[in-house]
Amino acid sequence: MERIYFDNAATTPLDPLVLNAMMPYFTNSFGNASSLHRFGTESKVVLEKCRQQIANYLNASGDEFVFTSSGTESNNMAIKGVAFANRERGNHIITSAIEHDCVLSTCKWLETQGFYITYLSVDSDGVIDIEQLSKCINPKTILVSIMHGNNEIGTLQNLEQMGAICREKGVYFHSDACQSFGKVSVDVQLMNLDLLTINSHKIYGPKGVGGLFIKKGIKITPWLHGGSQEFGIRSSTENIAGIVGFAKAVELCMTNFSKEIDVLTRQRDKLINGILLNVKNAYLNGHPTQRIPNNINICIRGLEGEAIRLLLILDELGIAVSAGSACSSNDKSNNASHVLRAIGLNPFEARGSIRISLGRFNNDEEIDYFINAFEQSILKLNPIFS
Ligand SMILES: Cc1ncc(COP(=O)(O)O)c(C=O)c1O
Repeated sequence: MERIYFDNAATTPLDPLVLNAMMPYFTNSFGNASSLHRFGTESKVVLEKCRQQIANYLNASGDEFVFTSSGTESNNMAIKGVAFANRERGNHIITSAIEHDCVLSTCKWLETQGFYITYLSVDSDGVIDIEQLSKCINPKTILVSIMHGNNEIGTLQNLEQMGAICREKGVYFHSDACQSFGKVSVDVQLMNLDLLTINSHKIYGPKGVGGLFIKKGIKITPWLHGGSQEFGIRSSTENIAGIVGFAKAVELCMTNFSKEIDVLTRQRDKLINGILLNVKNAYLNGHPTQRIPNNINICIRGLEGEAIRLLLILDELGIAVSAGSACSSNDKSNNASHVLRAIGLNPFEARGSIRISLGRFNNDEEIDYFINAFEQSILKLNPIFS
C-alpha cells in the first residue's frame, strides 16, 4: 500500500488539471497585469476572467472579489479593514470561541487598539446559539465574524440565519469559509454575507492564493499600500499563475460538486462508523450530521493526551493524519485545542484528538486499511484496549 494522505483539511494535493492550467503562466505568459504592453494586457484579461469566474460561483459580481495571498490574509483584511474603516460607527465586534487562530489573533490584536470583542460560546457539538448572537448585537457593534465549517471538528454553522439577523440589525457579516468552500454550497446572497474568505490550497489549488468577497459599498481600510492593485484595496503585483490555478480548482469543485460530495460523505460516514464500531472507547467530536463532508475528529477515552504518539505510529505505517489542526502544531506552548476546550473537553482530553480529513484522491480501499491500522496502532499504544 502506498502512503495514505488523510490530512486534506491541512492542505490538499494539487490537482494535475490545475497544474496544467497554471503551466503557461510560469513560462511564456508572465506579464505583469498592470503593464500597458501586450504581455501585461494578456495577464490582465486572464486575471479578470478568473475573478469573474470565482465570483460567479459565489453568486457575487466580479468587482466584489479581491485576490489575496491566503485565507489568513483575507481574514485579517476583512476584520481589521472593516474595524478601522467603520470606527466612527462603533468599536464592538462579535466572533466565536472556535474560530481559526488567524481570526482569534486578529481579534486579540484589535483589543489592544481600542476594540471590544465578544467571543460567542458553542454547545457540545460546536454549534453557536443564534439567539445568543442576536442578543449580543448592540448599537456599537460593527461586525460579526463567524466561520462556516470548523477546521478541527467540522461543525457547520447556519450562516443563512446568522446573516439574516445581521442584515436586519444593520451589522456587517463576515464568514471564514476556507474549510467549507468547495464542499458545501456557499452563496453570498442567500447567506446575507457582506464579506467571505476563501482560499485555494484546501480545494486542490496552489498554496499562497486566497480571496475575499467584499459586498459593493462596504468600506475597508487597506493594509498593503503601493501600486493600488485589486481596486486599491490590496497593493501587490498579482500572482497570475496562482490565481489561474485557484480559478481552475474552483471550476473543478463546482463542475463535479454533487458527485464529489456524495462520495466524500459516504466515505466519511463509513470511516466514522468503522472506528466507532471497532475501536473501544472511541467517540466523535463535532456535530454528527451538520458537519463538513470530509471531516472526522475522534477521541479515545483512556488515551487522552496521546494524540501525537498515535499520529507518529500511524505515520510510520505511511498514514498521514493530524493531531488537532495543522496550525496548532506550530503552537510551541502545547496548549490543548481551544476548539475542543470550547465544546467542553478538559485540557487532557483536548490534547487527545485525531483529525482525519478525506479528499478527492482517497478511495474505499484506503478507508478499510485505515480502520484496521488505527485499531492496531491503538493496541500498540496501550494493549489494554484489546
Ligand atoms: C478555517 C480556516 N481559516 C483560515 C485558514 C488559513 O488559511 P491559509 O492557510 O490560506 O492562510 C485555514 C487553514 O488552515 C483554515 O482552516
